[in-house]
Amino acid sequence: MNLIINRPFPKLTLELFKKNKLEKFYKKLLYFKNGREALLYGLNQIGITKEMKILCPAYICNSLTNTLIENGYNLVFYDIELDLKIDLNNIETIIKKDKISGFIFVYYFGFKLDIAPIKAICKRFDIKLIEDCSHSFLSNYGINKKEFMKNISIYSMRKILPVLDGGALLLHKLPSEVRNQEVSIKLSIKYDLLYYFERIFEFLITKIPLINIYSKRFLFLKNKLNGILKINNGLNTGKILSQPLKYHSIFLNFFLRNSYLKNISIKRIENYNYLSLEIRKLGFKPLFDTLKEAEIPQFFVFIDSTGNLVDWLRQNGFGALNWPGDEIPSQILSNQSDYQNSLTLNKKLVCIPIHEDLNSKVYYILLKKLRRWKNLFT
Ligand SMILES: Cc1ncc(COP(=O)(O)O)c(C=O)c1O
Repeated sequence: MNLIINRPFPKLTLELFKKNKLEKFYKKLLYFKNGREALLYGLNQIGITKEMKILCPAYICNSLTNTLIENGYNLVFYDIELDLKIDLNNIETIIKKDKISGFIFVYYFGFKLDIAPIKAICKRFDIKLIEDCSHSFLSNYGINKKEFMKNISIYSMRKILPVLDGGALLLHKLPSEVRNQEVSIKLSIKYDLLYYFERIFEFLITKIPLINIYSKRFLFLKNKLNGILKINNGLNTGKILSQPLKYHSIFLNFFLRNSYLKNISIKRIENYNYLSLEIRKLGFKPLFDTLKEAEIPQFFVFIDSTGNLVDWLRQNGFGALNWPGDEIPSQILSNQSDYQNSLTLNKKLVCIPIHEDLNSKVYYILLKKLRRWKNLFT
């Protein structure tokens, strides 16, 4: 089976052993294992403490909402529009009804969404703004926002880079305890090695004929095995760190090189533009036809009105996905009439990987499959 993997493989060179000089922007960040930890630390820093209310989009994954709820925050959800915009009247109505302390704004899939009206609302109602750049760190959103000191930006680099960690936080005023902290490479290579072996194992498995790592049966067996062997990749320990890390992984240090980031950004834009053109020829509608300047998305995203295409592609070996898929928060699922758009987006947006290992040759197989699907189901 021709499998198409939805994350890039960590291709290492001897530079791995060199200490990388981080670019200015990455030096400004505080590092955590993941985005959730960065968020919790950041909330505390801007004075949003337990029991306060945070406005959170309903189109979100439960890893974020569960972390906030488990740590004592009250979430008030807002539905978003089908083009990922926010209904400002709806927001104002909620704010006038509830005492809201923080607002989470997500740059979905790395798209450059307009945050300006939300900033204005937050300023007017004295609400702190949390820019969630977890899908979009390549675009460096969150930079140069000095005019709005109360906001924080969070990142999750492992969603883009082949690394295990990369949670990060941009704060405009660093707390004294971390002001002069130098981030070094992690001394223990345990997690880097574990991650690398996992990726090699995944690569080898994909070479076995008839095995499809995206099939429901394979995922079921994988989860069972993980449960039995209690495999833990070092991130899901359940423990939340209350301080930024003094180090990050060797892999993160390696892949945060400017030349690498530039190359993968170019490749992503190229893949996005290629898919946008070809997919439109097949009669599908991209969520956004073209990219704005300096917009480097996580995925190519298009609309499938039937809602069954992702499953079909996965059964055929292509790592497409719905987001957040099964990780949609239970509060949203149990309140279907209030969050119709978020549920529709979860079902009908098809996310196609555009990482640096993919190219028009690989997409040729995808496009052939899409043509077949069209003949079968439309
Ligand atoms: C929009 C968004 N924000 C935050 C997070 C949390 O990031 P992490 O998984 O690194 O904790 C996620 C996770 O999937 C996410 O999709």
